[in-house]
Amino acid sequence: MKKAYEKYIPFQPIPLPDRTWPDRRITQAPTWCSVDLRDGNQALVNPMSVEEKVEFFHTLVDVGIKEIEVGFPSASETEYQFLRTLIEGGHIPADVTIQVLVQAREHLIEKTFEAIDGAPNVIFHFYNSTSTLQRKVVFHTDMNGIIKIAVDAADLIYKLSEKALASGMNLRYEYSPESFMGTEMDNAVEICARVLDALHATAERPVILNLPSTVENCLPNYFADEIEYFIRKLPGRERAIISLHPHNDRGTGVATAELGLLAGAERVEATLFGNGERTGNVDMVTLAMNMYTQGVDPLLDFSDINAVRDVYQRVTKMKVPERQPYVGELVFTAFSGSHQDAISKGVHYMQQSNSPFWEVPYLPIDPTDVGRQYEPIIRINSQSGKGGAAFVMQNSFGFDLPKAMHPEFGAIVQKETDRVGKELKPEQVFQLFKDNYIEATAPYQLVRHSFVEHTEGDTTKVDFTGTLRHKQTEFQVSGSGNGPVDAFFNAVHGQKIDRFTFVDYKEHAISRGSDSMAVAYIQLRDSRGQDIFGVGISHNINLAALKGILSAINRGVNRE
Ligand code: KIV
Ligand code: ZN
Repeated sequence: MKKAYEKYIPFQPIPLPDRTWPDRRITQAPTWCSVDLRDGNQALVNPMSVEEKVEFFHTLVDVGIKEIEVGFPSASETEYQFLRTLIEGGHIPADVTIQVLVQAREHLIEKTFEAIDGAPNVIFHFYNSTSTLQRKVVFHTDMNGIIKIAVDAADLIYKLSEKALASGMNLRYEYSPESFMGTEMDNAVEICARVLDALHATAERPVILNLPSTVENCLPNYFADEIEYFIRKLPGRERAIISLHPHNDRGTGVATAELGLLAGAERVEATLFGNGERTGNVDMVTLAMNMYTQGVDPLLDFSDINAVRDVYQRVTKMKVPERQPYVGELVFTAFSGSHQDAISKGVHYMQQSNSPFWEVPYLPIDPTDVGRQYEPIIRINSQSGKGGAAFVMQNSFGFDLPKAMHPEFGAIVQKETDRVGKELKPEQVFQLFKDNYIEATAPYQLVRHSFVEHTEGDTTKVDFTGTLRHKQTEFQVSGSGNGPVDAFFNAVHGQKIDRFTFVDYKEHAISRGSDSMAVAYIQLRDSRGQDIFGVGISHNINLAALKGILSAINRGVNRE
């Protein structure tokens, strides 16, 4: 029996054993052309209104895109009106070229010329389908018939351009052999060469040849072979600007565009976040930021990517997925403990080393470069490790827990994530810290106390006297030491709580606005040799330490 997958015809690569593109590198940004307002718009459940398109147009301009396909003005009244609004409303900056799309058909070409009247810079983009499949099942004609459609359209466009050029319009041309990827390469070369001739293309006035993978049908390396082959064979290559227009049917639109650039293309048509027909057009943000992370300036500004995403989502009603490269909600977040630990170390390394390079594991890009924050990098769920909770405490609340304390606090947090069965927000992590350490104030409490300091030469001695409460009973304690912590610890050490020995102490300031507090972390060891931590906070550093000691003692006593 025939298997279902056997009905598909596999792609036949062209032979190009002396290909050169694999050895090349992308060292500069291509010319970017946004097709959001045309290819993107035509793929929406509810296409954008004129007002929404105007807002999106301004967003594209702000990102730095200089060529913007604004629609198909001969196809619908909304498209026509939008174009007129852009031109008559003075929305188009002097350095931005608008692009209009039209089928290679006479009456549509005429209508499109009417639509662009008065625009300063225009790319007149026309297309017809050239693939073997479309010739067979849609047009029922041979290649000569298809070439005639394209050349007739080019002749007409050239003729109708006279008036526009005379009016001072900076008018350029673009031709797309639609479904290029399914066209025999020699046919694609021939039709494009004939169009270049008809449009009188020269090196000084080159024509854009846009080579779409209208429906992505092959591995990106095969596509790159096609581009290299096409460029080699095109007569008068200098008369053309080679443009790519990848769709994403196999999910490899980005790779197709990148390898196509290696193969010699110099322009890319794309959309923000990959909106477009079916699986979308290639995502301009990913392409640009991929270059950025290789040290190449993409000449686009995505430094506030969330703002761009918000406009996009509002006007298109599309949703940017949480895992979308560079912009998704979760792409700067690590849940896994080992990833969190490595990120934490990387961030620490960056702070200590002053490295001019971005060297943080698991983060291919500095989130602040796209206007994202560090805070959500590490999120806490049952997969998170000890370092994650400590990272949240430091980055969200300014508490720099001693390394030795990470496992203890991490275990407290992990127990809670297992209990609730979902992610903990930073505030919940802080609440656990507060409940477990800062508010470990029973059974022992410090009621009142005083210190007296004696200094002789370089030697300081501190006497501590105070009242402690254990449940309902108050009792006096006193002790001396070489500092307040030592004195207090010696004072309480003589009491029933003398099974704890002092291991380590760390303190630092935490600034929240103008309010500066001190935090002290105390590490004690009980009679079984198990360590226990306590934390105290106060405006007074000595008091923070005393509270920290009592916090550790109370936790130790309650643990027994
Ligand atoms: O995908 C495609 O082939 C197109 C053309 C009109 C350029 O959108
Ligand atoms: Zn397209």
